[in-house]
Amino acid sequence: MGIKLGILGLGTVGTGTVELLQDYSGRHPLLREVEIRRVGVRSLELPRAVKLVDGVLTTDLDSIVNDPEIDIIVEVMGGLEPARELMLKAIHNGKHVVTANKAVISRFGDEIFTAANQAGVYVMVEASVCGGIPIIQPLKQSLSVNRITAVMGIVNGTTNYILTQMQTVGSSFDDVLADAQKLGYAEADPTADVDGWDAADKITILASLAFGERVNRQQVHCEGIRQVSKTDIAYADKLGFVIKLLAIAKTNDSLLSVRVHPTLVPKIHPLASVNGVYNAVLVEGEPLGQVMFFGPGAGAGPTASAVSSDILNLVARLKTELAESKTRNSSSVNLDPLFACLHEGFAEICPISELVTRFYARFLTQDESGVIGKLGTCFGKFGVSLESIVQTGFQGERAEIVVVTHNVREGNFRQALAEIEAMSEIYSIPSLLRVL
Ligand code: HSE
Repeated sequence: MGIKLGILGLGTVGTGTVELLQDYSGRHPLLREVEIRRVGVRSLELPRAVKLVDGVLTTDLDSIVNDPEIDIIVEVMGGLEPARELMLKAIHNGKHVVTANKAVISRFGDEIFTAANQAGVYVMVEASVCGGIPIIQPLKQSLSVNRITAVMGIVNGTTNYILTQMQTVGSSFDDVLADAQKLGYAEADPTADVDGWDAADKITILASLAFGERVNRQQVHCEGIRQVSKTDIAYADKLGFVIKLLAIAKTNDSLLSVRVHPTLVPKIHPLASVNGVYNAVLVEGEPLGQVMFFGPGAGAGPTASAVSSDILNLVARLKTELAESKTRNSSSVNLDPLFACLHEGFAEICPISELVTRFYARFLTQDESGVIGKLGTCFGKFGVSLESIVQTGFQGERAEIVVVTHNVREGNFRQALAEIEAMSEIYSIPSLLRVL
């Protein structure tokens, strides 16, 4: 007997998934067991790139999640609502869910997984983070014997493309963004990407899986790349770094710091050579050491690969133990802990002021004796130790001084900066970036 799917959405990812499922030759034989029963769309009038049996397409999305014949709901419509509500209805109706929706999972994961665990169904989210890169199942399974100490990555292709172009061509952020929009690499409204929100959604999900506790998306510190200038990219280059938008989840004593911000990455670090639209996620654990996942983080084919892998995993289960148990809709269902998200409680998140990190800062100052000395003295007063300080450039009459610190508590560093900003010799502090 086939396993019946209800697919919500037939955009880029939905179409890619239907294409993959229909073209099953040479892939895992269990894919032949999949039957696409209904596909929910906004309009029946639009031309479609895939052929579906008459009557499969419908605009009545509720009828899909309420269809007693359907085993698995595949949510690839995106957006917060009605996607969240439809997933919850599907769960309450005892259906497993596969979703690519990072926005819903990062914000409402607590509600959705709690409902799923009570209903005894799985919610599978491989496609919600980094498209084609398999990172969710490895975190749940193969890597989970490790004590994870950090998960960090380049998880947004748009911003990585922009920063790579700024680095290689030497253009400004605005010029590269305009070109990327013309080429279709960046959205007409690029806010979610360039302001780091997309990356924050993804690191919320990864952190929760890696560290075994739910993570409150609102506590994730998030800075985008609008303030990254070609001047800073050039200074970073001279100092041996590239600037990347990193999403980082790291244990800091007993607290977890989860953040997204542009970061100076040493050129010898594995993430430094991840360029263009590619994504990569580095996982550090004990006794594993480091492992890095690299690949395409978006696009129809890669994301369809991730969606279909979740479908395949569920089909395998439905064909074996779940088919035997007949206990769905009962709170007594024993979900596989390597497959479900059974976390209870939220992680305590380290406030950004308590973060211990290195900093890069650029100052525009009067060009006169004693300025570097005054900077050094003020940093020293707040316990900020400097790794390097250089004055190589001018902007008009203004001297440009760049410092890189040793590890320092962010709160101390900001206190020093406030005092420095008030000095009569300092015109401005145009850049402040963290260093990996
Ligand atoms: N907009 C994302 C990116 C892809 O640029 O990587 C979907 O998460």
